[in-house]
Amino acid sequence: MVETILPLKVENAHISKRGKTIIGPVTFDITKQGFTTIIGPNGSGKTTLLKMMHGLERPKEGTLNWNCDLELARLHQAYVFQTPILLRRSVIENMIYPLRLKGMKHQQAFAKAKEWLEQINLLEASDLSAKILSGGEKQKLAIARALAPNPEVVFLDEPTTNLDGTSTREIETLLKKAIQTKTKIIMTTHDMGQAKRLSDEVMFVYRGKIHEFSAASSFFNKPDSVEAKAFLKGDILE
Ligand SMILES: Nc1ncnc2c1ncn2[C@@H]1O[C@H](COP(=O)(O)OP(=O)(O)O)[C@@H](O)[C@H]1O
Ligand SMILES: [Mg+2]
Repeated sequence: MVETILPLKVENAHISKRGKTIIGPVTFDITKQGFTTIIGPNGSGKTTLLKMMHGLERPKEGTLNWNCDLELARLHQAYVFQTPILLRRSVIENMIYPLRLKGMKHQQAFAKAKEWLEQINLLEASDLSAKILSGGEKQKLAIARALAPNPEVVFLDEPTTNLDGTSTREIETLLKKAIQTKTKIIMTTHDMGQAKRLSDEVMFVYRGKIHEFSAASSFFNKPDSVEAKAFLKGDILE
């Protein structure tokens, strides 16, 4: 029995599309500790890198190894897309579904789903169709649904882009709670304030390469690379 699927070790991974390098080569380890944020300009490869870690994008070259076999590692991870993908069912059925997949009995899954909906202020919307929720509500539901089965690793792609302050705050609270229950979070964002509020470590990606991967405090106070310095200053990076 494997106790943890981490670390994830990535070596010389490379992804290209239509002959153009999108990622790589990149080499890094994702360890158990801390909240990891991936930042960088638009189009730098953050989403592709996140998808690669979760297995939604295959590197053409290089290797990706979890602390156990891939099938087992997949069972202990969740991925939340930038635009939430929900089932065409009610709000509560969206919450129940992954719990049932994990083998939980209906009654227990129902009770747990209700607890989570209460936490994200959607209990009253339980029986509504998920598709009529607002953008912020959909994203909260998608994140709660990912966290509820208690996965070891959760990947989030820009979870609060286009959301108002209240939804952003609620989502950040959920993520901080998840960290306390030992869930590893790896999140992309281009909201610098959010990266500062949440990160323990920062991976700075530019043109498909990792320019820095360091403790958040040292990244924000004293970035090493010219590119990260320019990015933090607010310069436009091509
Ligand atoms: N399916 C695809 N086909 C061709 N190019 C793609 C595809 N997906 C992403 N790209 C390109 O890869 C680069 C990185 O994209 P992405 O990972 O979405 O960056 P980010 O999330 O940092 O904005 C961009 O230049 C984008 O246009
Ligand atoms: Mg992206």
